[in-house]
Formats: sequence, structure tokens, C-alpha cells
Amino acid sequence: MNKQIVLLPGDGIGSEIMESAEKVLDAVAGEFGHSFTLQEHAIGGAAIDQYDTPLPETTIEACQKADAILLGAVGGPKWDALPADKRPEKGLLGIRKELGLFANLRPVKGFPSLLHASPLKEHIIDGSDILIIRELTGGLYFGKPSERQNNGNAVVDTLHYHRDEMERIIDKAFQSARLRHHHLTSVDKANVLESSRMWREIVEEKSKAYPDVVVEHLLVDAAAMKLITQPDQFDVMVTENMFGDILSDEASVLTGSLGMLPSASVRSDGVGLYEPVHGSAPDIAGEGIANPLGTILSVALMLRHSFQMEAEAAAVERAVRECLEQGYYTSDLHITDGQLVSTAQMTEAVLENMTVKS
Ligand code: NAI
Ligand code: MG
Repeated sequence: MNKQIVLLPGDGIGSEIMESAEKVLDAVAGEFGHSFTLQEHAIGGAAIDQYDTPLPETTIEACQKADAILLGAVGGPKWDALPADKRPEKGLLGIRKELGLFANLRPVKGFPSLLHASPLKEHIIDGSDILIIRELTGGLYFGKPSERQNNGNAVVDTLHYHRDEMERIIDKAFQSARLRHHHLTSVDKANVLESSRMWREIVEEKSKAYPDVVVEHLLVDAAAMKLITQPDQFDVMVTENMFGDILSDEASVLTGSLGMLPSASVRSDGVGLYEPVHGSAPDIAGEGIANPLGTILSVALMLRHSFQMEAEAAAVERAVRECLEQGYYTSDLHITDGQLVSTAQMTEAVLENMTVKS
């Protein structure tokens, strides 16, 4: 199969982990007889430096034509003083919105050999395997007005959703639950927020079309607690934009490191943007020690969700699991037994495991 992929390395460790992703894509193409055309474009701080905007038109156009997009990370202290609408983050929010990527999928699954890398007790996280689905284009992050009022003495942010926006993400969640363990937890704050009451009504309406999926409603505060006390009780979790942002970072502690987590932002026709959950890690940028596995696992999500290449995705995920079983670890993983490796060495280890097995 021939696929066009746009690469957006961005800032900080973004370009380092993107190199790892390119090598993995090359290996998948070679092993499975595909052809991936990779095209690099600017976003975030790198784009501000070059084009004076975090999201150049050329980048938007290339992404619109692509079959899938892979992003590193954006942001860093260099651009912190810029006004809000000129900052690197605007590039990322902008491209999600431009492409209508409304569903952010964050699978959170601990690797057995990393159980002891989490600050949580092993028996609590053992067996947890959660798919968090976060609504990505509505809610507080986009609602207008969002401004200071009354001479700066008052402030308003707006939590706005249209019924259609809720329906499509909730449908996506039911469909995902069907492909997994048929259990859906809907997270809201229906005891306080009108938007949550509408969300809950829609979940109830939709559930009639998915009688094989068991639905549970949880208030977001209770969900935050249950996520680290009984994570194995979740299968698919769906929630609005801000709740999802917070809960998915919280869930990352189950896996041992932020550097391990992949994510996919998709829309209904399969086009998607894939990226590790972590940021540009300016504190370690340029040192060659970043953990590339969150990005490599994002490549696996791309293969699965945008290209329907299940065997290829599974081969990448298996290679990652085997590297960890062989004892390789990067410095963000707090383990002491095993072999501490660089970004490049971890990538090589993944490639070796891919070629040996396929
Ligand atoms: P961060 O995720 O960049 O880093 C948090 C901590 O985790 C740091 O100590 C970092 O060294 C470590 N870390 C993160 N990813 C790692 C990896 N792959 N390997 C090893 N260690 C890793 O979050 P932080 O420090 O809050 O933000 C740094 C910059 O990144 C900011 O400008 C922020 O706005 C931006 N950011 C961008 C995101 C994106 O592009 N999706 C998401 C989150 C933050
Ligand atoms: Mg976040």
C-alpha cells in the first residue's frame, strides 16, 4: 500500500523522536512491502522562527492532502513570552481544528516489565488496559467569549457544545467499546453542569443502539480517584475536552512514564494525527536521551487506525514490548536493573526485534 504521511517534528525533543519514527516506518515498509512517502513540515516554535506563525498555510495544505500526520511536540521557553495567539500551542490546537480531528484516543496499557516503574503499587495497576477518548474540538478550550471583563476585574471562559459534537464523540466511544471489552464509562459533572446533563442524556439515548455495551456514568472527581485506585475496572472511558485532558495525564502514571504514551486524534473518515502525549521536554532536548517509545507506539496507532494495518501495528507493539523485556530502558523510566540506553539505541533495539520476528 502507498501512503502519504506528513511529519511535523516541532520543537525540543520533537526532531529526535521523529527520527526514530521514520526508521520504524521504513522498517515496516520494508518488512511488509508498503511504500510510505514522508514529507516534513513546520509547526510550533520552529514555524514561528521560520515563518512568523505557529501554523503556516503550507503546513495546513500538506496536512489536508495527507493520509495521516505524525507530530513530535511543540513549545519551549524560547517562545513563552509571546502573546497567547502567537504561541507554539496555537499551531497544535489550530491543526486539530482545521482538520476536524474531534476524537483524541489515548490507550493506557502498562507493559508487564514496567510494572515496577510506576509510583503506584504493582497489584493495583496490573491488568489495567484503558482507552481514554477525549473530545477535542469543543468545550472550554474553544468557547467564546473567553476574555477579561469589567476592566480586568472579571473573567469569563465558555463551555460550549453543540449536540452534534457530543453525538459524534459518544458514537465513537460506543464503537470503540464494541471492538474491546464492551464496557463504557462516561465521565461528566452532571450534578453541577448543564453541559454534562446534556452529555449524559445523549449517552443514554445512544446506548439504545448499542445494547451489547454496558454503560456506567461517573462524576469526574470520582473518576479521578478510581483511575488510580481501581484502574483495572475501566475499559473505554469517554469525556469532554478539559476533563479528558486532565484524566489522561493522570492515567499516564499507570504506565511508568509520560514518555511511553501514544495518542491518536482522528475524525470519522480515518484521517488522523498521531503524537506522543508528552511535550517538547526542553530540559533534555539535544541530549539524545529522550524516550522514543511513545512516538513509536503512535506510529503503531497510525498503522492501525488510519491504514487498517493491524498486523503491522501489532508487530511494532510487540517489538516495543520485547525491548522492555530485554531490559532496555531510557532515563525517564525509573528502573535500575537493565541497560540504560539512548534514543538511538532504543530505536535500534526496536528495529532489531521487528526484523527478527517478522
Ligand atoms: P514535557 O512533557 O515536555 O516534560 C515533562 C517532563 O517529562 C520533563 O522532565 C521531560 O524531560 C520529561 N519527558 C517528557 N517526554 C519525555 C521523553 N520522551 N523522554 C524522556 N523524558 C521525557 O512537559 P512540560 O515540561 O510541562 O512542557 C515542556 C514544553 O512542552 C512546554 O512548552 C509545553 O507547552 C509543551 N507541551 C507540548 C505538548 C505537545 O506538543 N503535545 C504537550 C505538553 C507540553
Ligand atoms: Mg495535557
